[in-house]
Amino acid sequence: MNIQLMSGDGLPPLLKLSNVSKSFGGIAALKDVDFELHTGEIHGLVGENGAGKSTTMKIIAGVYADYEGEMRIDGAPMHFRSARDSLAAGIGMVHQELSTVPDLTVAENVFLGHQPLTRFGTVDWPRINREAARLIASLGLDIDPTTRMGALPVGLQQLVELSRVLFSGARIIILDEPTSALSPPEVKRLFEVLRKIRAEGRGIIFISHFLDDVLEISDTVTIFRNGRKVATERAAALTKDAVISHMIGRGSIGMHMGESTTLAGDEAKPVVLEARSISDGKLLRDVSLRLRAGEITGVYGFMGCGQIELARALFGKIRLKRGQLALDGATRSFKSTAAARGQGIAFVPENRRMMLFRTEPVFKNISIAILDRIHRLWLKPRAENKIAATRATDLQIRPPNPNMLLGSLSGGNQQKVGLAKWLTHLPKVLILSEPTRGMDVGAKEDVIRIVKALRDRGVAILVLSTEPETILTLADRVSVLRKGIVAKEFSHGTIHKADLLAAA
Ligand SMILES: Nc1ncnc2c1ncn2[C@@H]1O[C@H](COP(=O)(O)OP(=O)(O)OP(=O)(O)O)[C@@H](O)[C@H]1O
Ligand SMILES: [Mg+2]
Repeated sequence: MNIQLMSGDGLPPLLKLSNVSKSFGGIAALKDVDFELHTGEIHGLVGENGAGKSTTMKIIAGVYADYEGEMRIDGAPMHFRSARDSLAAGIGMVHQELSTVPDLTVAENVFLGHQPLTRFGTVDWPRINREAARLIASLGLDIDPTTRMGALPVGLQQLVELSRVLFSGARIIILDEPTSALSPPEVKRLFEVLRKIRAEGRGIIFISHFLDDVLEISDTVTIFRNGRKVATERAAALTKDAVISHMIGRGSIGMHMGESTTLAGDEAKPVVLEARSISDGKLLRDVSLRLRAGEITGVYGFMGCGQIELARALFGKIRLKRGQLALDGATRSFKSTAAARGQGIAFVPENRRMMLFRTEPVFKNISIAILDRIHRLWLKPRAENKIAATRATDLQIRPPNPNMLLGSLSGGNQQKVGLAKWLTHLPKVLILSEPTRGMDVGAKEDVIRIVKALRDRGVAILVLSTEPETILTLADRVSVLRKGIVAKEFSHGTIHKADLLAAA
């Protein structure tokens, strides 16, 4: 604990924002925000999607130079014009959207922008690889530093990116949703590293929608709502309920994302898609799964358990070495994703950047699923726009303006757009990987509502997630994957988060 630092030891705060406001094209995103970070402090930052968290952090990281108000570092006024300025002032940020370079190696990514040089001024490759291996090992990872970044799963990329910033020597470290792709043991290891960094007298800003995580790791928590700071409190003095009511501005909503659930698997419902002892020759071994019409099957497991591979195998993205798929009882092998799509199988992957077009307006991103099916020429822009506007309202996409560029929506709202397109044309099977990752409580509820509505309309749904709460909130039956095998299945009775964690 760093109470003496918090309560004024004569030193100015490491970072101080006063009356910071920022607008985008005349629309206010931040209004008079005050914020302080002290040395040796982990400062949690929470708020609903679109509350202004990332925008504030991007000001500190030099991404946005046009804002009002004042920023001080160690008491000295600063106004960064670029990310480089901010870096030079000792600030390191892990952005919400991965910013690793897929074509560089892991080691090159770790040292991006600060490569050690030999005494001849050339890049010291052996040293880079050696050092990178050492750094990523301290996050508990065993990755060959010469692997191409793009070849790693998203979760591992996230960890590599974290190591880049954690070990850059920055005095102020900003982590925007760093744990969204991490498994519980990985989060634990990250927290150990964060505590070490705190003990070195550096300051950390930790943004997350996982309120338990925020309360566990933070000394202080700040809550944003609608572009304003509404509270800053000692974490020890806060409860999850208190945080939620600050976030949404009314009394607690009384519904916590599942700590437990009662399953209602119904064997009478027809099996739509079935995996019969499938193996991919690498991770997946003899996985059997039955997706039934009007049911949500949850697949839970830690990162790397084979979920990603399973989703891809069902969608024709990876070839099976053994076993078969059956659709409506007839054996099928999907030679391509197009073949799977043609049979009515829709897939929303965990990495939203794969499916969305950030530089296109929201309505284009929504109607793209229809454009796949209906002839492009048949759809008049106005019709396209109208459908999209309806969807945007259904999903409470904020702001509800279908003409905005997707890239200018907040992260959680971009994700809702990714789901919106499947509402227009009902698929037979819907495969959702991490459907609520990185979303706040309100947005999660929106997504849960939509997914359940699709189930009730007869869609056979598969939800794959590393978050027990997501599985418990959505699933009618659950399979737990461990190292590529189905370790346990639950279809009836009450199960708890602990049951899932124990089986994984
Ligand atoms: N580049 C941009 N252009 C226009 N508006 C933007 C831009 N970036 C953010 N905004 C708007 O500013 C507001 C705050 O967004 P911000 O990304 O800071 O939210 P956030 O708290 O990080 O949300 P999330 O939890 O969803 O990531 C939102 O209304 C968003 O639409
Ligand atoms: Mg954000």
